[in-house]
Amino acid sequence: MAYDLIVIGSGPGGYVCAVRAAQLGLKTAIVEKEKTLGGTCLNIGCIPSKALLQASEHFHEAGHSLAAFGVIVDPPRLDHAALMKHKDDVVAANVNGVAFLMKKNKIDVHTGVGAITGPGKVTVTGANGEAKEIEAKAIVIATGSESAMLPGVVVDEKQVVTSTGALSLGKVPGKLLVIGAGVIGLELGSVWGRLGAKVEVIEFLDRILPGMDGEVAKQAQRLLEKQGFSFSLAHKVTKVETSASGCTISYELVAGGEAKTMEADVVLVATGRRANTAGLNLDAMKIATAKGKVVIDDHFRTTMDGVYAIGDVVRGPMLAHKAEDEGVAVAEIIAGKAGHVNYGVIPGVVYTQPEIASVGKTEEELKAEGVAYNVGKFPFMANGRARAMRHTDGFVKFLADKATDRVLGAHIVGFGAGEMIHEVAVLMEFGGSSEDLARTCHAHPTMSEAVKEAAMGVEKRSIHI
Ligand code: NAI
Repeated sequence: MAYDLIVIGSGPGGYVCAVRAAQLGLKTAIVEKEKTLGGTCLNIGCIPSKALLQASEHFHEAGHSLAAFGVIVDPPRLDHAALMKHKDDVVAANVNGVAFLMKKNKIDVHTGVGAITGPGKVTVTGANGEAKEIEAKAIVIATGSESAMLPGVVVDEKQVVTSTGALSLGKVPGKLLVIGAGVIGLELGSVWGRLGAKVEVIEFLDRILPGMDGEVAKQAQRLLEKQGFSFSLAHKVTKVETSASGCTISYELVAGGEAKTMEADVVLVATGRRANTAGLNLDAMKIATAKGKVVIDDHFRTTMDGVYAIGDVVRGPMLAHKAEDEGVAVAEIIAGKAGHVNYGVIPGVVYTQPEIASVGKTEEELKAEGVAYNVGKFPFMANGRARAMRHTDGFVKFLADKATDRVLGAHIVGFGAGEMIHEVAVLMEFGGSSEDLARTCHAHPTMSEAVKEAAMGVEKRSIHI
């Protein structure tokens, strides 16, 4: 079979790349080793975790927040099977949606592990060991990433879990110990915490959410602590032992100190992810890697002619939407167009409650780069809609260039932050200033008015504070 393009991996990077290529008239195939399409994001990542976050949020609200609105309910009970069914239904609808998109766009799906075996050649080996060879003018590697393991910790996906096992626990653990205060640790910790688990987090660094704006991370930590999280920062886990009765975690201060132990029912390892390069035959094809990731140039080209790579398997943040945009860009490049990704404007959202969202530079980055900037801030406490919804936690923060007022970054902690951040993303994509946003009429009463007020705050002219 001869194609214009073979994409290896059907996650958000791969399947979006295949659809865009097909739209541009390329005869396209996709290779996927799992039974369902959609990769980590749809099957065991973003989508199932959001299904559980939504359900657990309702459970928590029913038990803790509704009375203040005058809605009295009996203490809620959890139907664990229905919770898991909701998650499974959402996953099924999404993965079937991708299969439909493949059909609609006449993209051939080859099930099996894809390996690059020569110029333009991909060998697909099915679960039964049968191999077939397919050919194309171009190949895109979009094989994503998997959970990184920790020395001294053996994952069984029951008592000691990665994000995969944490989506399918058989019951709510009495105590959940999370290793790593990154995005996965805080999101999945929130799920089980809202359902009743005591959540304790051990984090290597002296702060949570590395890479996010420091002030935002501090506020997020305070709010999560109010919800019952406890954090041991600047600590490392050295060993996890399991028995029928639970897990014993050995940990100590990173700086050195007495070894301590703690008991937990379930341990979640959330200490980062590593690129999925196994089985691709990269070494034999002389496709270079660095720090475990496939090396690419500015046009997604690897060191082998005709082979490109995108998404978690290459440099940059491991985010589904970054992979999607790279998928579109590389398809356009392969089709002879000018594909491009603006890495300066990639939003990031942590789906805790409240959500934490950011785009562009943090204050720490601007300081390190020696860029002079103005800050505009506005708390949701002073927003009428937020008060009406009892979602007054958090704030919006703008960072704008001192000389030109161009917006360099924005950070939001607050209910719906993950939606609101996009007005700043569009503003930044157009090189807009804080004044541009401050002069844009915002509907009243909305949470988004706080975004406008924060933009006004850059020139110290917020009205409601
Ligand atoms: P992460 O890199 O966000 O956080 C890992 C945390 O573990 C860091 O704070 C790190 O300092 C800490 N750590 C590392 N080794 C440790 C040790 N031995 N002991 C204690 N702490 C240790 O990684 P995470 O949360 O696993 O997520 C993986 C990737 O998936 C990230 O790139 C993330 O952006 C992405 N992701 C994004 C989501 C979103 O956008 N909402 C949701 C889930 C994942």
